[in-house]
Order: sequence, then C-alpha cells, then structure tokens
Amino acid sequence: MEGRLVLTLILGLCAAIPCHGYYSESKPYVPPAEKVTQLHFFLHDTLSGKDPTAVLVARPNFTTAFNNTPIPFGSVFATDDLLTVGPNLTSGVIGNAQGLWASTGQDVLSLVVYWDFGFTRGKLNGSSFSMFSRDPITQTEREAAVVGGRGEFRMAKGFAQLKSYVADFTTGDAIVECNVTLVHY
Ligand SMILES: *[C@@H]1O[C@H](CO)[C@@H](O)[C@H](O)[C@H]1NC(C)=O
Ligand SMILES: *[C@@H]1O[C@H](CO)[C@@H](O)[C@H](O)[C@H]1NC(C)=O
Ligand SMILES: *[C@@H]1O[C@H](CO)[C@@H](O)[C@H](O)[C@H]1NC(C)=O
Ligand SMILES: *[C@@H]1O[C@H](CO)[C@@H](O)[C@H](O)[C@H]1NC(C)=O
Repeated sequence: MEGRLVLTLILGLCAAIPCHGYYSESKPYVPPAEKVTQLHFFLHDTLSGKDPTAVLVARPNFTTAFNNTPIPFGSVFATDDLLTVGPNLTSGVIGNAQGLWASTGQDVLSLVVYWDFGFTRGKLNGSSFSMFSRDPITQTEREAAVVGGRGEFRMAKGFAQLKSYVADFTTGDAIVECNVTLVHY
C-alpha cells in the first residue's frame, strides 16, 4: 500500500518533470495575454532625523566625488521607503520600497537603484515590482526601468516616470512622484 503510494508520487513527479534528472524538455513558449496597469504614488526617501528610511551601510574610507554631500560617490544605502497616495505622509501609506541604492556618478551626482516596490493595500497587497535602473537625481524628471514583478505583477516589465517633488541635497531627503506603467500577466 505504502509502496504503491510512493510509486504513484514518483510517477506523478515524472509527469511534471520528465525523469532525465532535474530539468524538463524545452518547448515553445506560449505567453498568456498581457495586461497593463498604471500606478501613481509618492516615494519618501528620508536620510535625516531620528527615523531615517534610508541608512548608510558602506562608503569608501577616502575622499571621493561629492564628499560634501550626504551621498558621496561610492556610498551604499539600504532603504525601507514609504509609498503614499499623495505627497504628504498623512495621505495614506500603500506600500514600501525596500532595497539598496548606490551613489555611482563621479562627474554628476547620480544613483543606481535596486528596489522592490511592495504594496500593502487592496488587491495589490503582497504584490511587488522590481526596479533596477540608473536614477539621475539632479534631473527633476527622469525615467527608470522596471525589470520584473511578483503576485499581480508576475513577469512585469515596464518603466517609471519619476519627478522630484522635494529634493534636498543638504539633508539627502527626497519625495518623488512616480508614474509607473507595467505590462504583466
Ligand atoms: C582605508 O582602509 C585601508 C585598508 O584597510 C587602510 O589601509 C587605510 O588606512 C584606511 N584609510 C583611512 C583614511 O582610514
Ligand atoms: C503634511 O500635512 C501636514 C498636516 O496637514 C502639514 O503640517 C505638513 O506641512 C504637510 N507636509 C507637506 C510636505 O506638504
Ligand atoms: C495584507 O496581507 C497580509 C498578509 O496576507 C495581511 O496580514 C494583511 O492584513 C493584509 N492587509 C490588508 C490591508 O489587506
Ligand atoms: C503623472 O501623471 C499625471 C497624470 O497624467 C501627471 O499630472 C503628472 O505630471 C505625472 N507625473 C510624472 C512624474 O510623470
């Protein structure tokens, strides 16, 4: 009885992944119909004060470009930035951007961001999209690449139009308006 159960389980597994070892046969890929979703929210990246949402985790131990700013070339920050419906924190938190960014510009102050934008309200609760992009923060308006997603945003690709609502280069604090276009399953 137990033996038969084990055999059934093994045969079941072999039906899903043929028993060559550990991989399936490669077949033509038929993508499901894609959907598009637009998002609009504000990101709060706060370096100053008692409750920063972006914290320095590493920086060079010698003088680099933009040493007179809170984000000299080569510094790396980890973030848990709040996302809100409007520009004010009181407008309602809908998620957070967790990840890292690094100050990567030597001639012009600029970042590369590695961010997972996760949502915590409504039908998007538990879903997220992944941004990996340059972010030339000295330009008020810029565009970032979206390279993937989870949940509602499985297989997402797209782009985000970013606009500085507040950008304080003395404290490093910023509020950024985000219009995101996602194509996903
Ligand atoms: C930076 O780190 C290197 C390697 O550990 C060390 O030799 C050097 O003294 C450090 N420089 C400063 C300014 O702390
Ligand atoms: C957010 O709203 C509070 C209370 O209404 C107000 O005091 C504050 O100035 C607002 N902040 C911004 C950035 O608009
Ligand atoms: C979002 O999902 C989490 C985990 O499933 C759950 O604990 C939480 O209550 C949900 N929040 C909202 C606002 O639906
Ligand atoms: C986002 O879209 C709204 C509505 O079209 C527009 O008013 C706003 O300027 C856009 N913002 C960005 C950052 O693209």
